[in-house]
Parts: sequence; C-alpha cells; structure tokens
Amino acid sequence: MTSYRVPAASDPARPAADRPLTIVVDGEPVAGTAGQTIAGVLLGAGRREWRTTAAGGAPRGVFCGIGVCFDCLVEVNGLRDVRACLRRAQDGDVVTRQGGTR
Ligand code: FES
Repeated sequence: MTSYRVPAASDPARPAADRPLTIVVDGEPVAGTAGQTIAGVLLGAGRREWRTTAAGGAPRGVFCGIGVCFDCLVEVNGLRDVRACLRRAQDGDVVTRQGGTR
C-alpha cells in the first residue's frame, strides 16, 4: 500500500499557493498557480475537453477527478497517458492533447 505524506505548511518543498506558473498546451501558454494539477490549470482556463476517444472520437476531459476513470489522459513532456487530474503542473510543462490510440 502506498502512503502519502502531506507536507506541512512550513515545509519548503510545499508549493506556494500564490506562485504563478505557465504550462504550454498544444503550443499555447496557459497560466495557472503552483499546486494545481494539469486538469486544474486547464479547467481554470475554461477548457473542458482535451482528449477524444478511439472509438467515435467523443470528447473527454475530467470525469472522476480522482484518477480512476482515465478520461483525462494527456501527453506531458512527451510522456503519453498521463492522468491530468493527478499530475501536479510544473512551470514549463508541455502538454499535448491525445486522441484515440497510436
Ligand atoms: S478524471 Fe478520472 S482519471 Fe482523471
């Protein structure tokens, strides 16, 4: 079983909630805040869909928001099938939509 440690407010590893960051989504800069997930940054920018299904090309974005449904998959820094709802955004991340299967 995996255990998770929540950093204390005084922990320097804890991201400052007011620190801005920018990720690049399909070539466009999108602003967010440290501590947000990639999905949080995308939703904050008004984006609701960023993937299409292999069968039928139906649009997908966040469904469960807790890493269970895999509807929110994106490519991050060249790595496919990253769950946007779980991946904490880092300044300069390059996010690409992915559709269907390769
Ligand atoms: S929204 Fe369900 S896994 Fe990300």
